[in-house]
Amino acid sequence: MNMQKRTIVALPGDGIGRVVLEETIRVLEKAGFNADYVEGDIGWEFWRKEGNPLPDRTIDLLEKHKIGLFGAITSKPKDAALAELDPGLKDKGLVYSSPIVGLRQHFNLDICIRPCRTYKGNPLNFIRRGAGNSIEEPEVDVVIFRQNTEGLYGGVEWTNPPDIVYRGLASHPKFMKNFGNVPKEELSVSTRIFTLKATERILRAAFSHAMKYGYKSVTVCEKPNVIRETSGMMYKMAQEMQAADFPGIELWNTNIDAQMMWLTKNPENYGVIVAGNMFGDIVSDGFAGLIGGLGFACSANLGEEVSVFEPTHGSAPKYANYPVSIVNPIAMIESACMMLGHTGEFDISRRIRSSIASVIMEGRVRTYDMMKMTGRADVLEKEAASTRQMADAIIAKL
Ligand code: NAI
Ligand code: MG
Repeated sequence: MNMQKRTIVALPGDGIGRVVLEETIRVLEKAGFNADYVEGDIGWEFWRKEGNPLPDRTIDLLEKHKIGLFGAITSKPKDAALAELDPGLKDKGLVYSSPIVGLRQHFNLDICIRPCRTYKGNPLNFIRRGAGNSIEEPEVDVVIFRQNTEGLYGGVEWTNPPDIVYRGLASHPKFMKNFGNVPKEELSVSTRIFTLKATERILRAAFSHAMKYGYKSVTVCEKPNVIRETSGMMYKMAQEMQAADFPGIELWNTNIDAQMMWLTKNPENYGVIVAGNMFGDIVSDGFAGLIGGLGFACSANLGEEVSVFEPTHGSAPKYANYPVSIVNPIAMIESACMMLGHTGEFDISRRIRSSIASVIMEGRVRTYDMMKMTGRADVLEKEAASTRQMADAIIAKL
C-alpha cells in the first residue's frame, strides 16, 4: 500500500518525554511509517524562558499538520512556577497552566481513548484467586472513552462565589435545604457541566468503536442514580442512541464506585466503557493498573480537526537525567500505534504491536518496572533493559 507522506508534530516536552518520544520515532521509522517530524516547543523550558509553556508557534504547527505525538510535560505548583521564571518576566503577572490541558482545550480534543489490553507474559499482569485456591490471570481488553473537556475538570469553580452565582445557587431548593445556613465565604463550588453535543460525541465514538472492533457491550460508567442531571443525561442519551443506531451492541450501566470493585473481580467481562471526564480518568487508571501500569498506559486525544497521542504517564523527573535512560517506552510506542490506527496505517500498527507482544512474551528484555525493581541507575547492572534496549528489541522483531 502506498500511503501519502505524513507530517507529524513531535512534542517531546520535559523529562522522560524526550527519550520515550525519540525511541518511538525510531520504531516508527524502522516499521516503515512514511513521515516527516517537525518539533513543537512545549513544556517547562518555554515557561521559564518565554513565560508560556505552549507557545503560539506550537499551536500553529498543530493547526497546520493536525497530528501530534506528545511525550510528557512537567507541571509545578503556582509559587514554584513563578520562582523559576526568567527574571525579566517575573513582574508580568504570568500564571502557569498545564500545556497539555491547554492543548485539549484549544483544539477541543474532547474524545479521549484509553485502551487497556493484557499482553500475555507481562509479569505485571493482574492475577486473582480462583476456585480451589487456583490462580487466574484474566485477559483484559477494555477501551475507555473519556469525555476530555467538560464535567468536573471544566474549570468552572469558585471559593466564596460571587453574589450573582450565590443567588443562582440559592434559587435551588436543595441548596437552601442543605447549605442555606452556610456563610458564602465558607463555600467552595466546583461545577460539573455536561453539554448535549459533547456527550453525544463521546457516546457515538464509544458505540462506533464497539461496532467497528467487535466488542459486544458498551458500559456507561457514571452514577445516574445520584448525579441525576449530568450522569442521568448521559445514560438516557446512551439508551436512545443504542436503540436507534446500535441495536446489536449491549448497553450496560455501572456506577463508578461499584465498577472500581468489579474491575478486580471480573475485568474480562467489560469491552468499551464510556464516562465523563473525572470518572473516565479514574476508571482508566484502574484498568491500566491491571495491565502493567504507567509503562503500558497509552491514549489518544481526538478533536474534530486535530489529534494528539500521548502516554498517560508524566515526565518522571527523577529519571530524566540518567546517562542511560531506564524507563519503559512501551506506553509511548503504543500511543504511536493509536496514531497509526487514526491515520489508517493499520498494517504498520499491527506489526509494531505484535513485535511488542513477542518481546513481552519471550521475557528476555524487560525494563525495570517489568522486573518489579525500584527505579535506580544500577537496575541496568541487574539485567533490566534500558529504554533504548527495549526499543531495539521491538525493532528486531518487526
Ligand atoms: P509520572 O508519571 O511522571 O511518574 C510517576 C512514577 O511512575 C515515576 O516515578 C516512575 O516510577 C513511574 N513511571 C512513569 N513513567 C514511567 C515509564 N515510562 N516507565 C517506567 N516507569 C514510569 O508522575 P508524577 O511523578 O506524578 O509527575 C511527574 C511530573 O509529570 C509532574 O510535573 C507532573 O505534573 C507531570 N505529569 C505530566 C503528565 C502529562 O504530561 N500528561 C501526566 C502526569 C504527570
Ligand atoms: Mg489521570
